[in-house]
Amino acid sequence: MKPIHVGLLGAGTVGSGTFAVLKRNQEEITRRAGRSIVVRMIADREEEKARQIAGDDEVIVTRDANEVVMNPDIDIVVELIGGYTAARDLILKAIENGKHVITANKALLASHGTEIFAAAQKKGVMVAFEAAVAGGIPIIKALREGLTANRIEWIAGIINGTSNFILSEMRDKGLTFETVLKQAQKLGYAEADPTFDIEGIDAAHKLTIMASIAFGIPMQFDKVYTEGITKLTREDIRYAEELGYRIKLLGITKRTSGGIELRVHPTLIPARRLIANVEGVMNAIVVRGDAVGSTLYYGPGAGAEPTGSSVVADLVDVTRMHTADPKHRVPHLAFQPGRLSDTPI
Ligand code: HSE
Repeated sequence: MKPIHVGLLGAGTVGSGTFAVLKRNQEEITRRAGRSIVVRMIADREEEKARQIAGDDEVIVTRDANEVVMNPDIDIVVELIGGYTAARDLILKAIENGKHVITANKALLASHGTEIFAAAQKKGVMVAFEAAVAGGIPIIKALREGLTANRIEWIAGIINGTSNFILSEMRDKGLTFETVLKQAQKLGYAEADPTFDIEGIDAAHKLTIMASIAFGIPMQFDKVYTEGITKLTREDIRYAEELGYRIKLLGITKRTSGGIELRVHPTLIPARRLIANVEGVMNAIVVRGDAVGSTLYYGPGAGAEPTGSSVVADLVDVTRMHTADPKHRVPHLAFQPGRLSDTPI
């Protein structure tokens, strides 16, 4: 069968991880997807970065992402450039051109997801976004598939690797906030604008997406109560420790009688709890369903190959569904358009 042709937009940390995983595990991935998945184009404003990722492989490298989304030879566009305006325009253009889209852009989905999913539905293409939440943890697939029999009651988790890394290093090594933030940036964990990580905004984006799937509500990031970790001091962390607690930045969403609650803030957690012992860039999410009870998902929340692992999982998923009869496709839609009964409070 003809290979699936992929165009990568963005040659940063996640782009390089995606390319590396796809290449290294090509044989297994082809077997699992039912056909081979080939990166045909990489676009980045810094062409050299794209060229470095491609190495000796036969890949078209360009500075202009429009060339990728307009190219009739490309089946799936992987958007990894982040940000709002340019990414939104490119995704909508790709959809308009009949391409499936995979994105790790939680900021964009949390704010413009409704528009993007509506466009994809109209055009009959898929938009997949496993890498947008919790890096390498397959939490979207867990919510969408594994827990689909359940009425989800609540979700609570550590969903920002950078802030968890900062809190862990401040506690363990007594380092200052600024020193650890710089390390997180160097390690490629932090967002282009680290304010998103440390002010809880990135976690709020991810919470918005998870709540949308879990509760079938549209993505409404502006409804999330958001408080970050910038006001925490080493003393706060030490005092919490002395009292038998750890401070973690949690994202929490639950059903209440008044609607869906959505909040991100530092939380005191008894040190004996599993989630209190999630350290460094690791993420952990507890999901409670009425049938299954509480389930826990743990793993790296950021980084090149962990996030690349999620992008490639979406590539396999979209390839399988692209190959199947369109009638039998499982939509990646995060909400049911028109169903607004469980609106956030
Ligand atoms: N900046 C994000 C984090 C990357 O630290 O969790 C993964 O979404």
